Amino acid sequence: MSVLDLFRLDGRVALVTGGNRGLGHAIAEALADAGASVALTSRAADRAEAAAGEIAEKTGQSCLGLALDVRDRANVEVVVARTIEKLDGLHILVNNAGVNIRESILELKDESWDEVIDTNLAGAMRCSRAVAGHLKAQGWGRIINVGSILSFVGIPNRASYASSKAGLLGMTRAVALDLAPHGVTVNALCPGVFKTEINRPILNDPEYLKEFLRQVPLGHLGEPAELKGAAVFLASDASSYITGAALMVDGGWTVQ
Ligand SMILES: NC(=O)c1ccc[n+]([C@@H]2O[C@H](COP(=O)([O-])OP(=O)(O)OC[C@H]3O[C@@H](n4cnc5c(N)ncnc54)[C@H](OP(=O)(O)O)[C@@H]3O)[C@@H](O)[C@H]2O)c1
Repeated sequence: MSVLDLFRLDGRVALVTGGNRGLGHAIAEALADAGASVALTSRAADRAEAAAGEIAEKTGQSCLGLALDVRDRANVEVVVARTIEKLDGLHILVNNAGVNIRESILELKDESWDEVIDTNLAGAMRCSRAVAGHLKAQGWGRIINVGSILSFVGIPNRASYASSKAGLLGMTRAVALDLAPHGVTVNALCPGVFKTEINRPILNDPEYLKEFLRQVPLGHLGEPAELKGAAVFLASDASSYITGAALMVDGGWTVQ
């Protein structure tokens, strides 16, 4: 067997939350490209279905688009059950759905804090809890939590977001220990600054953009496709002895 075979995902089923655009879309496409059937979600069913159709056409894999708001426990449980039913299993969960509301602590609103924590942190907990029993029973599973450089370092105006992503790292470690005896690994995939909708305020402001670029030793913002290899690695047997870890995909931002 070639080492490259360890990266194949044939016969696996993945659920990628928020997989209709941005980093989640790149991850969903990568997992399908590596052989997995993929369910992906958006809060809007039509956006999820369109993205699933596009990835199915491109990769030839079975793809399912489902409406999901990770803030809603019942909705999460329905989406997990439907994925298992329609795609005949579930092996890989990617907790990717996320929002960022940029406010200084001087003006931070309770509603912003609640939305960011409820989506980025509690949402990942709800999805992980909903799949944990199934993964335990089959004795193999992967949970990938999309963290951030802000799991480790600060940037001004990010109190809610940085708290959610640092919390996600703590949850990654604890859940890794809960599930380690059952053949399930749990890791964080931590991107730097990528060219997606969530960063529109940075991409639209040349001065702000220059300031960010100065922080990136590799000299460019991430293209979503640059996350694909790391996602497939953490989802596959190639990462079988890695759990509770954080993999930085940040162009070197956090090593300075
Ligand atoms: N881009 C970066 O530089 C960067 C860096 C570090 C970490 N990240 C993280 O990477 C993940 C993806 O971000 P992105 O850059 O791809 O941003 P994006 O293009 O804005 O995508 C965010 C995704 O999350 C979904 N979403 C938002 N709120 C949701 C909710 N309550 N329930 C379910 N889905 C929800 C959105 O779906 P709908 O709006 O269609 O419902 C969308 O698919 C996030 O967790 C983000 O924090 C991004």
